[in-house]
Amino acid sequence: MTLWHGRFGGGPSEELLAFTVSLDFDRRLAPDDLAGSRAHVRGLGRVGVLTSDEVDVIVAALDRVGVELEAGSFIFQPGDEDIHTAIERRVTEIAGPTGGKLHTGRSRNDQVATALRLYTKRQLLTLAHRVIDLQRVLLERAVQAGDAYLPGYTHLQRAQPVLLAHHLLAHAWTFARDVDRLLDARGRLDVSPLGAGALAGSSLPLDPDAVADELGFAARFENSLDAVSDRDFVAESLFVIALLGVHLSRLGEEVVLWSSEEFGFLRLDDGYATGSSMLPQKKNPDIAELARGKAGRLIGHLTGLLSTLKGLPLSYNRDLQEDKEPLFDAVDQVGLGLAAMGGLMATADFDLDRMQEAADSPTAAAVDLSEWLVERGVPFREAHNIVGAIVRDSIERHVGMAELVEAHPALGTEAASLLEPGLAVTRRTTPGGAGPVAVATQIIRFRERLELDQERVGHG
Ligand code: ARG
Repeated sequence: MTLWHGRFGGGPSEELLAFTVSLDFDRRLAPDDLAGSRAHVRGLGRVGVLTSDEVDVIVAALDRVGVELEAGSFIFQPGDEDIHTAIERRVTEIAGPTGGKLHTGRSRNDQVATALRLYTKRQLLTLAHRVIDLQRVLLERAVQAGDAYLPGYTHLQRAQPVLLAHHLLAHAWTFARDVDRLLDARGRLDVSPLGAGALAGSSLPLDPDAVADELGFAARFENSLDAVSDRDFVAESLFVIALLGVHLSRLGEEVVLWSSEEFGFLRLDDGYATGSSMLPQKKNPDIAELARGKAGRLIGHLTGLLSTLKGLPLSYNRDLQEDKEPLFDAVDQVGLGLAAMGGLMATADFDLDRMQEAADSPTAAAVDLSEWLVERGVPFREAHNIVGAIVRDSIERHVGMAELVEAHPALGTEAASLLEPGLAVTRRTTPGGAGPVAVATQIIRFRERLELDQERVGHG
């Protein structure tokens, strides 16, 4: 028996239920549905639609349903279309006719939107915590890395040496924007739709402000049609998660590269690597690869929901039920990915010698030579040409850079000393730059930012 059977002569077909039931996936909204229902019932009590005894009876039944759901003793019935109807059915069983007053002045349209906002609000905060956990790992590894350096790349070609700490913090700052976006999206969704009813509000003297307040929302809806049809908060959350997933993917791609024999910049801890079923020698970066791969799925969830929303007329349409699976999956997957990448980065063994060897190419200081000339009045473009010609000469004639620099009339011994291994990175001294002096400041600033963000998301 469904909750809406009154107008219907026959029961729902098997095919209808098979196609439309959402219970399998919206069960996870149970705590939020219960919270919404308690607030709604108390609201009805405050405005005199329910007596205080009735409120007590229904709230007690809701509490018992909560216990049953948690204990796993809740028995779902074939007519339970979704978690919302299942809970209401059970409340009515427990509370008798009084339970039938739970849904007074409410529709599943405002009920579902309320539960989903409560859920999303909580999950975005949890994800912000998980991002900060990963940032802490990156910061710790950056501090540990000290003055170790590696090649910085553009076009995946060695460009200039950078501190390993600088490279790790580049990812950490990227994630700081994700924390921002998670909190920002969370702030925007902090609006209660409860009281909008099916689409138009109610003839009963509801007080959506008080209900919003009780549920911890910052505000109530301004327009009932908008309240029940708005899924911007899901789309926005999916975007924020997709971009976070893209950032995890880029970090993952570097782990894939760095753990290859070709790079050899890091060895994965056994707990964060996988083996091959056939090739005994293999140690594979599956976490990093899945961080990369799952980003595709997260982008798909965003584009999928936007496609669902794009042609919908006001207000509620059943299409909106399609908001949940992508959201739940995105939340789950990115949460798992953050934790796995955090563990991987915390335990990875960086091969600092190998990194520095790769960075100590004689051409690593090419731009330093140009800038040395610039400081002596040579226009940069001309300095660039001089050094470029030396690099070409060195490659073509197999003569060492140092030798050529020393012999060059515009350069000489002092300039040649710039080629000393390890020197180039120390000369990147400008604010935000890749050398030890600038990075020391950056670490202080990043730590401040991290603690600020930790305050914003709370400790817990
Ligand atoms: N499970 C549905 C959803 O998530 C419930 C809403 C159904 N509302 C309705 N008016 N048929 O959207």
